[in-house]
Amino acid sequence: MTKINTTLTKNPKNLPPSDKLGFGQYFTDHMFVAKYREGQGWYDAEILPYSPLALDPAASVFHYGQALFEGMKAFRQDSGEIVFFRPEFNYDRLCEGAARLCLEAPPKELFMEGLKKLVEADERWIPNGPNTSLYIRPTLIGSEGFLGVRPSHETIFFIILSPVGSYYAEGAKPVRIWAEETYLRAAPGGLGAVKAGANYASSLKAALAARQKGYAQVLWLDVEHQGIEEVGTMNVFFVMDKEIVTPALNGSILAGGTRGSVIQYLKSKNLPIVERKITITEVIEKIKSGELKEAFGTGTAAVVSPIGVIHYQGKDWDINKGETGPLSTQIFTEITSIQRGTKADPFNWITKL
Ligand code: COI
Repeated sequence: MTKINTTLTKNPKNLPPSDKLGFGQYFTDHMFVAKYREGQGWYDAEILPYSPLALDPAASVFHYGQALFEGMKAFRQDSGEIVFFRPEFNYDRLCEGAARLCLEAPPKELFMEGLKKLVEADERWIPNGPNTSLYIRPTLIGSEGFLGVRPSHETIFFIILSPVGSYYAEGAKPVRIWAEETYLRAAPGGLGAVKAGANYASSLKAALAARQKGYAQVLWLDVEHQGIEEVGTMNVFFVMDKEIVTPALNGSILAGGTRGSVIQYLKSKNLPIVERKITITEVIEKIKSGELKEAFGTGTAAVVSPIGVIHYQGKDWDINKGETGPLSTQIFTEITSIQRGTKADPFNWITKL
């Protein structure tokens, strides 16, 4: 395997207060970087002090958006042990995304070793306040400088770490959501199913407009402005009288890790989870008839984020009177307890450092 060199910082930073972390505002002392060049393979793998990257201004990441990332978390359990939540899932998804974006994915040993060595170097940064974790951002970019449109022959893989609290300023409180009918996040055949930076770029305008109108995020619909795809940066679940529905993966929805964990958990409890197409019209009808009990988003950052209001065509529709529902609470508690090690892990989600 490519050897990983380590240079530790001579100027460790002060730790931020663990009750004021927010999301993605602080970065640890170190980062992991590895480089790839066609014909040469992976080289210069190192843990080094957190610092700017030097890139050719013609690098394909800047011009043609060859960028892909993962979001994952590490925790310090009560026993003192440091654990990762489903790192293999993130590695596999990174490889799928790299293939779609014509980037080189790092070999699995390099990904896992780089991750372990980095978290070991920065272990004092793992926060242990309620609802905190060490968020991990593995990233892959096209780094070759050229201007013809083609895949980059060079890739940089890096990992940065950020101690985090709640993703939303609302914390675990239900959020207000705007059903978006102008902009699309993704379309069939596009990049929606992979964690490309481009999907987030395409989401910003609608998210900003929603925020200006007093809504925390948007509910993403398909090209027909009917099929529900995602909510904000998350997958979405609807709890109804007879079934719990999450949109079936249709090629433009990201297969979220937490989405998979929630499905696995619900199945283990024999709850009627169904992956199928669900439209905004159906959701509004089920709110009107009282059949829709709860709705929530799922993602690595927030884990579970209840939806209190959906705005659709000029009207606000309350869900569960704008309160957090029992199933949202149950799923949040179950997953976060397994992450913190206060509950057994029957699903093998946890990997020790
Ligand atoms: C997540 O929900 O984990 C995300 O992917 C959000 C992230 C882009 C901040």
